[in-house]
Amino acid sequence: MRQKLLSEGAKELSYEIREIVKKAKLLQKEGVEISWENIGDPIQKNAQIPAWIKEIVTSLAQDDKTYGYCDSKGEIETREFLAKRTNKLGGVQITAHDILFFNGLGDAIATLYHYLAPTTRVIGPSPAYSTHSSAEAAHANHHPLTYRLDPENSWYPDMEDLRNKVKYNPNIVAILLINPDNPTGMVYPKQILEEIVELAKEFNLFLISDEIYNQITYNGVRAYALSEVIDNVPGIAMKGISKELPWPGARCGWIECYNRGKDADFDQLCKVLDDAKMIEVCSTTLPQLAIPKILGDVRYEEYRKNLNERIGWRSNFISETLQEIPELTFNPTYGAFYNTIVFKEGTLTENQKLELPNQKVEELVRSWVEDVSLDTRFVYYLLGATGICVVPISSFCSDLLGFRVTLLEEDEELLKKTFTTLRDSIRKYLDS
Ligand SMILES: Cc1ncc(COP(=O)(O)O)c(C=O)c1O
Repeated sequence: MRQKLLSEGAKELSYEIREIVKKAKLLQKEGVEISWENIGDPIQKNAQIPAWIKEIVTSLAQDDKTYGYCDSKGEIETREFLAKRTNKLGGVQITAHDILFFNGLGDAIATLYHYLAPTTRVIGPSPAYSTHSSAEAAHANHHPLTYRLDPENSWYPDMEDLRNKVKYNPNIVAILLINPDNPTGMVYPKQILEEIVELAKEFNLFLISDEIYNQITYNGVRAYALSEVIDNVPGIAMKGISKELPWPGARCGWIECYNRGKDADFDQLCKVLDDAKMIEVCSTTLPQLAIPKILGDVRYEEYRKNLNERIGWRSNFISETLQEIPELTFNPTYGAFYNTIVFKEGTLTENQKLELPNQKVEELVRSWVEDVSLDTRFVYYLLGATGICVVPISSFCSDLLGFRVTLLEEDEELLKKTFTTLRDSIRKYLDS
């Protein structure tokens, strides 16, 4: 008799952000035009890469060196460039040795949790970004462990909830922050970051800060990096170019380890991550070589500033459009490019519907809404009726009911049409 093939943790792997695509594709075959609001890929939403960036990448592709393996930890000049960038912030100081490259931050996330002992837990925010929560839960063979982000308080962390969970669960070894946050678009205020650092000190924890959206803030807010507030606590900042450049197809991200020398166990963890990458040989070479050339170019800052201003404009438009619905809890966003919108308690029911365009679509949607959460039901009706593809919040390890949208549509007219249709559909659904 064969042994059981899968670990208990394998059940924890789910990614509704991509699962919903299968349903949308079925509807596409029935003539529904889909507006992809499910995934944070700026390229899919018509972002245009400037010619000067393309020239840098093209000229790198002419160099045979870019086709080879690189140093296991990553190209040394790139790591030196990135260490300088972090050191300029004036907080904890690092060297190239503290940086390790991965094939996208997704790879870094999977590797980090994989090597933690199964009994240890990392507590992360809820609503949770599934790449973290699923990987952490799979490593622990248990459901994700989360602290609450509060939609009634600008999505800031509920510090009492976090403190209590940390205090009464000795398995917790680290706190995860995603700053700016996916899926809420919240940016952690400096004071809250400092409180989290104090909590880590008190309970001897280390910190993990996913900063893939660190350079994506707007409407007067900036995101503090972990390196600026961490003091002498051990921590890992996770960074990448998927969103910032944006170049998600490069599969290129890195981690920065802070205060390795201050904690032997933590130093060992960082070393294990280095060794794991060595066994794999290395990460993607060409994008690493492009980083100092692009991020260090004089045109870069202005380019990113313009992109942020445009996201800020979209954030304002979406606020004006959706804020007026009294059944929603709505928070304006200041970072990343998502918003999570919550239906107030008791406003969703099992009988609400939207008119669907034809019999076949009706059959599909009806079959999907049997036995699903009330926000998933709304999301499937919205998809069938309008083609707008959003993600239900219950799939982000949350007991809230709502949905996540993206702020990425570059075509202004299309953005206006999508969000006014969304507003009208919410109204119709709630009134049905
Ligand atoms: C918070 C966060 N971390 C990590 C990732 C994964 O990034 P990468 O494309 O580098 O794997 C994403 C992608 O959406 C993200 O939102």
